[in-house]
Amino acid sequence: MRLHLLFLLCGVVSGFFSPISKPTVTGVVSLIPSTSPTASRTPAPDVSSWQYDKNRQSKHVHDFYKLFGWLKSGDTIRDFEMPRAIRKIQRILHEPETGVYDQKMETVMSRPKCGYVQPYNETDAMANETMSRRYVLWGPKWDRTTITYRFINYTSDIPQDRQRTLVSEALLKWTQYLPISIVPAPSNVRADIHFRFMSMGPGENAYAFTNMISDGLSLASGLVNITFNDDYNWADDRLFNYTAVHEIGHSLGLSHSKVEDAWMWPYYDAKLGPLHPDDQAAVHQLYGWKNPRWKRIDNNSGTKYIVQVSSDPLKTAPLDGIYQLRSSGQVLRHDGTASWISIDNNKDTVQIAGSAGNVYQRHTDGSIYKYTGSGSNWQYISPPSDNTLEIVAAADQLYQRRKDGWAARWSGSGTTWLTIEQPSMSRQIAVTQSKTLWNLLVSGEVVRSYWPYGNGWTIVDVNADNIAIAVGGDEFYKLQSDGKVVWLDMEAYFWHEIENSGSVGIYAAGGYLYSRHRDGSVWRYTGTEFIWEQLDAAATSAGVIGDWKGSVWEIMRSGEVLKLVS
Ligand SMILES: *[C@@H]1O[C@H](CO)[C@@H](O)[C@H](O)[C@H]1NC(C)=O
Ligand SMILES: *[C@@H]1O[C@H](CO)[C@@H](O)[C@H](O)[C@H]1NC(C)=O
Ligand SMILES: *[C@@H]1O[C@H](CO)[C@@H](O)[C@H](O)[C@H]1NC(C)=O
Ligand SMILES: *[C@@H]1O[C@H](CO)[C@@H](O)[C@H](O)[C@H]1NC(C)=O
Ligand SMILES: *[C@@H]1O[C@H](CO)[C@@H](O)[C@H](O)[C@H]1NC(C)=O
Ligand SMILES: *[C@@H]1O[C@H](CO)[C@@H](O)[C@H](O)[C@H]1NC(C)=O
Ligand SMILES: [Zn+2]
Repeated sequence: MRLHLLFLLCGVVSGFFSPISKPTVTGVVSLIPSTSPTASRTPAPDVSSWQYDKNRQSKHVHDFYKLFGWLKSGDTIRDFEMPRAIRKIQRILHEPETGVYDQKMETVMSRPKCGYVQPYNETDAMANETMSRRYVLWGPKWDRTTITYRFINYTSDIPQDRQRTLVSEALLKWTQYLPISIVPAPSNVRADIHFRFMSMGPGENAYAFTNMISDGLSLASGLVNITFNDDYNWADDRLFNYTAVHEIGHSLGLSHSKVEDAWMWPYYDAKLGPLHPDDQAAVHQLYGWKNPRWKRIDNNSGTKYIVQVSSDPLKTAPLDGIYQLRSSGQVLRHDGTASWISIDNNKDTVQIAGSAGNVYQRHTDGSIYKYTGSGSNWQYISPPSDNTLEIVAAADQLYQRRKDGWAARWSGSGTTWLTIEQPSMSRQIAVTQSKTLWNLLVSGEVVRSYWPYGNGWTIVDVNADNIAIAVGGDEFYKLQSDGKVVWLDMEAYFWHEIENSGSVGIYAAGGYLYSRHRDGSVWRYTGTEFIWEQLDAAATSAGVIGDWKGSVWEIMRSGEVLKLVS
């Protein structure tokens, strides 16, 4: 390894020097409750003028009910039933159940919505508290593995070949995970799925609808039509992509999901990301998985662990990717296809970490280096120190957890580090995308400091059972010794149990959360409490990691590294 000698020769080794006897440490205790949201929230109805626009409210509530199959055709919700209907919607929207139409309902329901009429589902329509927030299947599915499609006509908003590209990409969004393919129909045969554009007239805010006829078991050729509302301007490719992916979900047999971030949620919100775990779980339920589900990308018994470096689903930096550390100290970067490239080989390396295109390593003597991106050149950013326990990269920052209990952050230049006051001995630190620093103390207490950390810290949880923490984007999770995984609902502000037993390790990236169980199996959270999708049942997993786009890698006890391909 070549160091950037410049820093050494100039003697700018400022480093940080931690106080041995700490100054008065300041913090506050403000525990987050773990009771149920209904019990802990005080309903605070929002009284604004639109609340009294009864017709608009009523139309929105009826639309919502139809989108989820809660209204028998021809039925209406009567005035005295409105508060209950609104409470039911508020439960889906994670809103305080006030029974009074509120600002969030107005915001969500004013958006362009899907025009697919979900079949009436009596169980769901009648359910109150027990209603599950997850995907719903229509019932029938395709009974073959090659499905065809054709455009009946096109919008005049954008060129036809662009429309074909957008649709074929939207199809891939689903089929990349499935043992089926959806291809253009040859000209002499009937297509399975049709795309067309049609004006739906003023006053209709549906972006599209899908209609289907089925014998109840399988979807039938030529009887599935996806119709885009040509009154929208399809030059907006965000809306086009969203609409195509959502409607194709219907054409595969999916109804609307009650998970607000899923693609099968019926209201358009301009957020485009990877397929949500809830959508993936739904299509896997119908069509199974590609075989094999995992692809081996390395087999070396010396591999200690793997890390992923990324920080935004929409952006990629040149050094984003997967890295591994071998017990020999060698650091390798996966080139994304088939091979690993050595970027350092130094027996002193004991840890690697990275985020947002930055890659770092720590040596046994506590010194820290940042990868320059070329060859095996690393920049020296911290002098040796026996105070250094661990480095943690998050957003565009690098942190270190220290023996004296405090944390430190690299200033970004030279070897200068800034200390971040913490109350006592730490077990693990984790930093969110907005740079909130979470610290799990040896005592099991969880403390939090906000960027730029000038205002001390707050104790938010006291529980000797807390054994690990994880952050994904701005979400925070903790793992308890009883195998429970707990999510912090920042909006309602309470601890929310999402897994009730079995977990021994958690990992989060962006919107994804993974859990490894005592029996070695690996799971992905679907976004609905207690509902996890099993990714691997093998008893030999040593760890699972993922990136912001939803890719998943697993390391086995043998040192083998696998990538989820389905
Ligand atoms: C009704 O909805 C529930 C919950 O979403 C679902 O489990 C069930 O399969 C649905 N029933 C039918 C007949 O679609
Ligand atoms: C849900 O609540 C309504 C009104 O309070 C009640 O009529 C209905 O029986 C409840 N449904 C279930 C499944 O408990
Ligand atoms: C597309 O075809 C449908 C009939 O299937 C028709 O109603 C609609 O007007 C056509 N749209 C365009 C843009 O030609
Ligand atoms: C889909 O469109 C085709 C061609 O226009 C038509 O024959 C078929 O009946 C339509 N299917 C449904 C379910 O509307
Ligand atoms: C929509 O999809 C197309 C084709 O994959 C892509 O080029 C375009 O960037 C996407 N647009 C947005 C806003 O994601
Ligand atoms: C992985 O490596 C081990 C030992 O190096 C070898 O015994 C095993 O056959 C390899 N597995 C595969 C699937 O190549
Ligand atoms: Zn829909």
